[in-house]
Amino acid sequence: MAAYEALYRKWRPQTFEDIVAQPHITRTLKNQIMREKTAHAYLFTGSRGTGKTTCARIFAKAVNCLHPKDGDPCLECEICRDAEAGALTDIIEIDGASNNGVDEVRSLRGNAALLPVRCKYKVYVIDEVHMMSAGAFNALLKMIEEPPPYVKFVFATTEIHKVPATILSRCQRFDFRRILPEDIAGRIQYIAEHESFSVSDAAAHRIAVLADGGMRDALSLLDQCAAVSEEIGLETVEEAVGVAGTESVYEVLRAIAAHNASAALERIDLLYQQSKDMTRFADELSQQLRSLMLLKTAPGDVSLLGAMPDDVKTLQEIAQSFTLAGILDALSAVRQCCDRMTRAGNRRMELEMTLIRLCSDFQAQKGDVQALTDRIAALEQQLAELKRNGVPAALPSAPRRDPQPKRDAPANNLQIEGKPDTSKYLPVKNWATVLERFDEVNPSVSGLLQGSDAFANDENGILLMLVKNKLFRKLFSQRDAGMLGQAAQQVLGKKYSIRFKMVETAEEQPAPADVLFQRAREQGIEVTEQESSGI
Ligand SMILES: Nc1ncnc2c1ncn2[C@@H]1O[C@H](COP(=O)(O)OP(=O)(O)OP(=O)(O)O)[C@@H](O)[C@H]1O
Ligand SMILES: [Mg+2]
Ligand SMILES: [Zn+2]
Repeated sequence: MAAYEALYRKWRPQTFEDIVAQPHITRTLKNQIMREKTAHAYLFTGSRGTGKTTCARIFAKAVNCLHPKDGDPCLECEICRDAEAGALTDIIEIDGASNNGVDEVRSLRGNAALLPVRCKYKVYVIDEVHMMSAGAFNALLKMIEEPPPYVKFVFATTEIHKVPATILSRCQRFDFRRILPEDIAGRIQYIAEHESFSVSDAAAHRIAVLADGGMRDALSLLDQCAAVSEEIGLETVEEAVGVAGTESVYEVLRAIAAHNASAALERIDLLYQQSKDMTRFADELSQQLRSLMLLKTAPGDVSLLGAMPDDVKTLQEIAQSFTLAGILDALSAVRQCCDRMTRAGNRRMELEMTLIRLCSDFQAQKGDVQALTDRIAALEQQLAELKRNGVPAALPSAPRRDPQPKRDAPANNLQIEGKPDTSKYLPVKNWATVLERFDEVNPSVSGLLQGSDAFANDENGILLMLVKNKLFRKLFSQRDAGMLGQAAQQVLGKKYSIRFKMVETAEEQPAPADVLFQRAREQGIEVTEQESSGI
């Protein structure tokens, strides 16, 4: 049996026609070859695995092919076949990284002075050209200034900024683009049709996104997956590559939006147990925060996201529970976290610290750390006092520093006093579902709405809640109202203004301690159930 050949090698395109997603380059090269107007030196630049070396090899064949077809090599003539077998001394591939000295370039020059043996052109393909020494570049420069007419150069590099301007100015430059997820996914499906495995669309797309624009990486990932299963689905990718499911990413995003640190940490713990790659997870988190940012700023242009339709829908839902400022803040925090993770010993802890910070709503208190510390100290004192004698002292309230309302300022303007004209209001049938939705993004407030009823007035667009829990009035904020309005819109398909009215109930009042704990939670202080019921 033949030795196993990696997919990316096996499927290296043999013609320009077969190159994916670089039409601006392949079209130009084909035209030049057809018209016999090729340049004597080219510089191919662009990120890893986008087709630079591949195009250089095709070019070398095409200019020498005995029967080129529309600028592509025929692959059948003796030149094409010998070139493919690496048996042509006139096509010379040099690795710039290991032949980077002056001496190597000098011997190259000696070699270039000799006429080609069998081909029309001697083609030098110099890969990783940026690795050459300054002396080597100088020697190279002399060579490309006045090359013999039968010599062509193709330089390839991922790091164009390391190539001297003197060289750049003497080359025709082609910039290879990162390949779009859909183009990579298409290539994956094309390959799967000819191989002994199948790939689901979602899996192909996932691989494409993970590869971040590089076809070689995509095909290596595909190789890993094919080793695990003949039917490659989303789970195969997640298992084989050790990445977390996108659902995990969404879960953590929802937790950030709801300021629910424990939900975020639990998810990280789970991923850790499953040996998922924390760095990759952080990276995906930042990718999806970028998607949220784009959705907020250009909601109409979902093509920028490069995501599957289902994912777009989920992301749109998540975006509703964020403000743009919140997304930007999270994005920069997670990017910094990614940076630190590449250096840090404990990646998991880096990620956890970042998430706790993001979930703790410190943002609202930015520049106000002292005030927050004071408030926490006061709360702690209250708690201690309460434990001692069971009598709550006055709750500490947030100091008012700025004229804008705090994020947690009670939204009493949403309260309806007196008796609304109930004849125009109809009961909201799916209220329980609305609350479930709301619970996903804002569990602390949704809890206060238990046992509430809701009525909608389609004429004035008001959704009126009748609320029993006294705490609700104190804690319900504009932001909460916004989130609830969105939850209602998702379920009811209509945008309502949220209003509420307190109704009397014979049920017992919430215990003072619960009030305090609720406040403490609002401040981002962790209070466990055990502690709160122990009083
Ligand atoms: N545009 C493309 N269309 C189809 N396949 C591609 C394309 N680009 C890369 N590939 C696949 O990836 C493999 C590697 O491509 P290639 O060696 O040309 O990349 P490169 O741009 O030279 O990358 P590097 O900068 O890492 O050298 C190829 O063998 C091929 O399977
Ligand atoms: Mg290359
Ligand atoms: Zn040929």
